Amino acid sequence: MTLWQGRFGGGKQSDEMLAFTESLSFDRRLAPDDIACSRAHVLGLERVGLVSHEESGALLSALAQAEEELAEGSFTFKQGDEDIHTALERRVTEIAGEVGARLHTGRSRNDQVATDLRLFTKRALCEVAKGVITLEEVLLARAEEAGDAYLPGYTHMQRAQPVLLAHHLLAHGWALSRDVDRLAATRRRLDVSPLGAGALAGSSLPLDPDWVARELGFGGRFENSLDAVSDRDFVAEALFDLALLGTHLSRLGEEVVLWCSAEFGFLHLADAYATGSSMMPQKKNADIAELARGKTGRLVGHLAGLLTTLKGLPLAYNRDLQEDKEPLMDSIDQTERALDAITGLIATATFDTQAMARAAADPALSATDLAEWLVLKGMPFRRSHELVGGLVRDSLERHVPLTELVAAHPSLGSEAVTLLEAGVAVTRRTTPGGAGPVAVAAQLERFTAAVRADAERFGLHVGAGLGRVGAAAPAPAPSPSGR
Ligand code: ARG
Repeated sequence: MTLWQGRFGGGKQSDEMLAFTESLSFDRRLAPDDIACSRAHVLGLERVGLVSHEESGALLSALAQAEEELAEGSFTFKQGDEDIHTALERRVTEIAGEVGARLHTGRSRNDQVATDLRLFTKRALCEVAKGVITLEEVLLARAEEAGDAYLPGYTHMQRAQPVLLAHHLLAHGWALSRDVDRLAATRRRLDVSPLGAGALAGSSLPLDPDWVARELGFGGRFENSLDAVSDRDFVAEALFDLALLGTHLSRLGEEVVLWCSAEFGFLHLADAYATGSSMMPQKKNADIAELARGKTGRLVGHLAGLLTTLKGLPLAYNRDLQEDKEPLMDSIDQTERALDAITGLIATATFDTQAMARAAADPALSATDLAEWLVLKGMPFRRSHELVGGLVRDSLERHVPLTELVAAHPSLGSEAVTLLEAGVAVTRRTTPGGAGPVAVAAQLERFTAAVRADAERFGLHVGAGLGRVGAAAPAPAPSPSGR
């Protein structure tokens, strides 16, 4: 069955045309949304008297039967079902008989598909956000448990200044919190019903788009029918949100890969979240982290692909728009899987805090502290920077420990030497948002509040996420007190 046979001579459509243009292979995932959309439409038609109460009842029960068949897997798609909308209308008509011919009254697949996809995206972004919040919770738990452990912070991949492990973990956490914020904003903007826009221009029938919008749980209806059927901004925005979220997971993944290397030795993965080598018996690899990094390429590609599809389209609907679904669905699926795997990996990995402390033991990592100590004594920073830089150079060239040079220097001496002791520099990062224990204790409180707010926005209760990671997840440690 096609939905347009009247205009055509009744001959068979070519297989090549159908093979190239069909979307059923991927838009069947929209079935629940298409049914919801049809239900609201039928109720709307009844409300304005375009179908009788009996007709509406017959259509609704046919829709319910189709829904049940889909759920139990007995729904049979037929040759010629070019998309989910066609398949469902065909089935409703088979079940309900003649009245099925009234289902599409005042509606086009153009407003229908836009409505379905908005419903789908709204739900899917909510699921993605839940996954992000779970990872936020795990990072928070691991940060709380990390206590006063510290490691070198890096700039240009060179050891720079020591930072608390908690601070480093929360840096990733804040990026994820911005992702949740973006997902919420995208969800808010896409919360507009296109149903009632028809093919492009609205309808001569007395439809009530405001009423069906409310019935579908949307925040409101479209303002312009041409815009309603051709707007895919929400897909582009969702793809951007997912690409940036993927980028954050990729950067986290890159650090996991580095930290698991013998060169760093900061992180040991649980067996359940690592992979081995088919040839080298000794290997333990961080494939999850590498794929979190690798798959981000395709998330970025999907965004670029959709924008390229959209950029030359005239108003209103063009079949090109069918190309919105596969990238969106793939980006959602890949991101959800990446989130689950990375969350499990982080929840179960072991931090080697001794290796971190060893890597941060070089007194040169306190060079900034020496220069700032001199500033507190009244020396201009440019002078103190030069003085300490000279000592570091001297120490390297003459192979004399920096501590000795500091002890012997007339402007520095034994008080300054204490700054070079292991673990001291990090305690001096006291400014708000800084990397030391006092500032991080405050940050932990703020991040806890941020995660709670993120969870509330998506109707979750905090802590719900940790359960999803399974038995492998460590219980969140109590917040270290006295910091
Ligand atoms: N499968 C189409 C899509 O995904 C549905 C809308 C088709 N509309 C049309 N007029 N051909 O965009």
